[in-house]
Amino acid sequence: MAESMKGLHRTHRCTEVSRNHIGETVTVMGWVQKRRNLGSLIFIDLRDRSGLLQLIFDENDIGSEGFGKAGELRSEYVIAATGRVEARSGAVNENLATGDIEIRVTSLRILSESLTPPFPIEANSATKEELRLKYRYLDLRRPDIQHNLMVKSRVALLARNFMANEGFLEIETPMLTKSTPEGARDYLVPSRIHPGSFYALPQSPQLFKQLLMCGGYDRYFQIARCFRDEDLRADRQPEFTQMDMELSFVDIDDVIDVNERLLAVLFKEICGVEVQLPIQRMPYAEAMARFGSDKPDLRFGMEIQDVSEIVKDCGFGVFTGALEQGGSVRGLNAKGQGQMPRKKIDALVDFAKGYGAKGLAYIAIHPDGTVKSSFAKFMTEEQLQALIQAMDGQPGDLLLFAADRNKIVFNVLGSLRLELAQIMGLLKDNHEFRFVWITEFPLLEYSEEENRYVAMHHPFTMPMEEDLDQLETNPGAVRAKAYDIVLNGCEIGGGSVRIHQSDIQERMFRALGFTQEQAHAQFGFLLNAFQYGVPPHAGLAYGLDRLVMLMTGADNIREVIAFPKVKDASCLMTEAPGPVDRKQLDELGICLAAPAEEKADGQEPEQA
Ligand code: AMO
Ligand code: AMP
Repeated sequence: MAESMKGLHRTHRCTEVSRNHIGETVTVMGWVQKRRNLGSLIFIDLRDRSGLLQLIFDENDIGSEGFGKAGELRSEYVIAATGRVEARSGAVNENLATGDIEIRVTSLRILSESLTPPFPIEANSATKEELRLKYRYLDLRRPDIQHNLMVKSRVALLARNFMANEGFLEIETPMLTKSTPEGARDYLVPSRIHPGSFYALPQSPQLFKQLLMCGGYDRYFQIARCFRDEDLRADRQPEFTQMDMELSFVDIDDVIDVNERLLAVLFKEICGVEVQLPIQRMPYAEAMARFGSDKPDLRFGMEIQDVSEIVKDCGFGVFTGALEQGGSVRGLNAKGQGQMPRKKIDALVDFAKGYGAKGLAYIAIHPDGTVKSSFAKFMTEEQLQALIQAMDGQPGDLLLFAADRNKIVFNVLGSLRLELAQIMGLLKDNHEFRFVWITEFPLLEYSEEENRYVAMHHPFTMPMEEDLDQLETNPGAVRAKAYDIVLNGCEIGGGSVRIHQSDIQERMFRALGFTQEQAHAQFGFLLNAFQYGVPPHAGLAYGLDRLVMLMTGADNIREVIAFPKVKDASCLMTEAPGPVDRKQLDELGICLAAPAEEKADGQEPEQA
């Protein structure tokens, strides 16, 4: 039977008890990890969020009733135990913070019983993630998840303190709002009072933080929930958290400065790592050319080489054809992979095709110097040797080439570079944190789908002053005052200097193909606000979940979120999203076009 807390007070968490308490009486509470009976003694490993502590039950200390009760304890029972701290009678357990002590229990209460859990509550569990997420409340008891969430809590606290010291104010922005311009699909919330009208959940606090700058708050900070209806990946959730900031009267360097100091504090306190400041900056164009990515992983080299010049007169139509179309031919040197079996090379070709390549050409250099290549027959020996030399190809190396439009070549080789690093084990046992700021992003990106330019960051991002005169004539070449902070190949944050001059904003909207009316319909409140004295401002937002994922070494964002969604954006525990009562829909004036699979109230499905 579950007993109450009456008259009981916890004195310590499990691992707060130490050798210093030997001889003292303590009361600890938590979950039964394990029970072992050893003749006339019963041992319990007690677990709470701090860790494990050994309890020892001896009939001579606790009496026969208490001893009998201890014998009933099972995994995940919640108990309170009072007893004396003693040095361990048996062997010291080096793996445990409390491995040199135990509690000789004099009084036991069973606060709650437990069914047998569907999987063991332990670190590094091999349990299938689906099961873990269905029983997330049990999974949350596992020490690795608890560690991750504790790190997240500490990061948030450290950031709050740091930002407060730097003069930032924490201000909330609404969840029920209008569509924000981050470019993903919105989650919509129907309005009951205004049938047919919808709020959008914020994709970020972007417009509101800019309005706070208009409001004179000059330095704003928020740990903000954001919602984006987009395809999920290992580092993406539909609902995630940003550490969001905006500053007035600043330019790029001011934002970067405060953020570098913030990162240094966080990584020092959480990971014990000194971040070397200033953090390296790399223009977007350079990142693409060298690493084929705007979030390059700089923990290893294997840089992309442009060999267009070398192959421009060769007889291989795939190469010369790509060059004639205005594309390029670029390659990677997978050092020491020259003996990769044909099957594995074919797998790389398929991998490349998955990223849009039409193929992947290769030269495999055997350690004895003989060369195998998918296109050698189209080249003279001199041309082949010149190409190998340009790639710094040594005996034993594998050279891989993509020929296409630059966008595809970068995408293919950027992805292939990461894949090769995996295959070659380049990042095994690598505990480095390599930061880089990516700067000078293109302002606009041409969307084949929409047949117009779209903003790469968002429509309020300031063009670089030196490129402004090209906004009408050569929009694709205009660079933005935007910056991303990238860690180990993951974009942990991004931001920009915003446009605060109405003439530039109008030109930007024109470049995006918006009419004045369209711009006003969507962002009128912001444009109006800017007519009443707007300070120059800039900001940045981190993906807090991503940051913590990297700090903890978790391989998936779900490991650092208490109640995450799975790939199809559902929650396996609550089974959200789910159908709602007909009455709720009626109140909202909503009629379903497609019949819901299962009606919550058992009524007939709605017909279109
Ligand atoms: P951005 O869209 O780059 O910028 O978002 C900022 C950071 O948020 C994280 N992030 C995500 N994390 C988890 N799941 C997602 N679906 C997801 N989407 C984004 C990333 C990203 O770097 N308002 C601007 C910031 C600004 O300009 O100040 C913004 O939202 O780590
Ligand atoms: P093919 O002439 O199509 O048989 O191609 C000869 C070789 O070139 C094969 O190894 C293809 O995988 C490779 N290849 C084809 N298209 C490309 C491309 N766009 N870039 C690089 N290699 C390619």
